[in-house]
Amino acid sequence: MTIEYRDAVVAITGAGGGIGRELALLLGRRGARLVLSGRRQERLEAVRDEVAAAGARSEALMVAPCDVTDTEQVRMWAASILQRTGAIDVLINNAGRGAYGPFHEVAVSSHDAVIDTNLRGIIHTSYALLPAMLERGRGQLVFVSSVLGELPAPDHAVYGATKAAINAFAESLAHELHGQGIGITVVAPGLVRSEFAATSGTPLARFARVPSKSAAAAAADVLRAMERGQALVVSDWLSAVAIRVRRVTPGLFGWIFRRLFARVRRTPDD
Ligand SMILES: NC(=O)c1ccc[n+]([C@@H]2O[C@H](COP(=O)([O-])OP(=O)(O)OC[C@H]3O[C@@H](n4cnc5c(N)ncnc54)[C@H](OP(=O)(O)O)[C@@H]3O)[C@@H](O)[C@H]2O)c1
Repeated sequence: MTIEYRDAVVAITGAGGGIGRELALLLGRRGARLVLSGRRQERLEAVRDEVAAAGARSEALMVAPCDVTDTEQVRMWAASILQRTGAIDVLINNAGRGAYGPFHEVAVSSHDAVIDTNLRGIIHTSYALLPAMLERGRGQLVFVSSVLGELPAPDHAVYGATKAAINAFAESLAHELHGQGIGITVVAPGLVRSEFAATSGTPLARFARVPSKSAAAAAADVLRAMERGQALVVSDWLSAVAIRVRRVTPGLFGWIFRRLFARVRRTPDD
């Protein structure tokens, strides 16, 4: 069975660029009523205009800026969505950030920002909107995680920890909400070409040999998993294989992984 999104109210965090923007375009084409969220209002307005230009009804598009790290803002954001749309069908927790580098060399404030955005953010948005879903006995919570939640990698310690925590949080909720009409989907992309590398300080040149996807392809993976109601999808085959190898032979996996990352670290940044 495929889930349909025509006229569904879908809130997307981090909708101003990258995977979130592409999801907005895809869901706009499917006739969803979109709530576009992120911190930069002008970026959200630009995406709203793009989605409308691609054929969506402009009255079905709502720009709702919100910093997911700010508990009070999230509470007011959720209240205004429910007031303006009357219901929420889908929450896509996509906003995220990273802080690349050796754990002890990255500023501790950057580690905190990663935890606040990736983990506290999804807890607060889900906490604010889940009750309205439960009241109607239907809804979908979607989490954009990362393969690094399953493949903890050097120079991504805190980021990977937040994504592993998202996976555990989502799985826990799936058990807790079983039978109450709430679908839970986690999608774990591999490397995606977006502004994420620049904002997280990731030297992309070092990862030139790592297979990557466009934000549009990653968004298509997220939407496919949503439509099929899948629980956990790893969006690239190489990572899916690596995750299996890690489970079966962690020692061998660690040996290979450390060598790969030693090579990545030796690669010049430009
Ligand atoms: N790029 C990759 O290689 C990759 C790989 C695996 C998983 N992911 C995950 O995919 C998701 C989307 O990333 P992307 O690649 O599309 O990166 P992106 O282009 O940098 O998009 C991230 C979005 O999050 C928003 N955001 C950041 N902090 C926020 C906050 N405090 N409150 C609300 N919105 C916030 C940003 O908008 P504002 O700055 O305007 O708020 C931005 O639109 C993230 O969760 C990321 O961890 C990315």
